[in-house]
Amino acid sequence: MGQTNLRLDKLIASQCGLSRKEARLAIRSGRVQVNGESENNIAKSIYPEKDQVMLDGQAVYYKKHLYLLMNKPAGVLSASNDAKRQTVVDLVPEKLRRDGHFPVGRLDKDTTGLLIITDDGDFAHEVIAPKKRVPKSYLVQLDGILTEEMPEKFRQGIVLADGTPCRPAKLEILAPDRARLILCEGKYHEVKRMFGTVGLGVVSLHRESLGDLFLPDELKPGETVEMDGKMVLSAKSTGQYTF
Ligand code: URA
Repeated sequence: MGQTNLRLDKLIASQCGLSRKEARLAIRSGRVQVNGESENNIAKSIYPEKDQVMLDGQAVYYKKHLYLLMNKPAGVLSASNDAKRQTVVDLVPEKLRRDGHFPVGRLDKDTTGLLIITDDGDFAHEVIAPKKRVPKSYLVQLDGILTEEMPEKFRQGIVLADGTPCRPAKLEILAPDRARLILCEGKYHEVKRMFGTVGLGVVSLHRESLGDLFLPDELKPGETVEMDGKMVLSAKSTGQYTF
């Protein structure tokens, strides 16, 4: 397999959280070194596995993709950009920003909790394609009382009001009006529509896990961390639940 090669301005922009314009300015103003020499050519071809690139004296490490874990706050749109409204990508700190970042699967504007943001489309497919059956676990506050027959109904597969069948889901009653729901697919507004069929409204919805990846307690709403390789693998896991 051939080595990856990239233009210097593209490398600096993608790896250092800069726009292409800012990266070019940094190169032209002598802030970038390649293999120990100052480099002013924005279009210089770089082999990231071999060439040593520095910006402001700091090594630039090449990562093909970046995987971020966010604790999504309520009131923010799960999208890459929007003309008027704040999106989850707007909340990503500058140093973790990359062109092409998008949220993996959508949470409603009022839903909180675990959301992955990446620029790796293949990874996103592995996590959200229904046939991969990656479990997603939600904590749900309801506006009414759960009954003891409901877990069995959810286990058999709810049929939504428009006739769409859902895959079996695991409903755990945590309190008379509070539950954990684990799904292995992600239809539009699925949790809200599932509870709608048993006459309950969702007051609040929080995603606590995806695959074997749980939202860390210390990650506060609106905060983002970079995922390590172990976290990336655990998000793809299908192992943990039986439905
Ligand atoms: N199901 C919903 O209804 N909303 C979400 O945000 C996620 C799952």
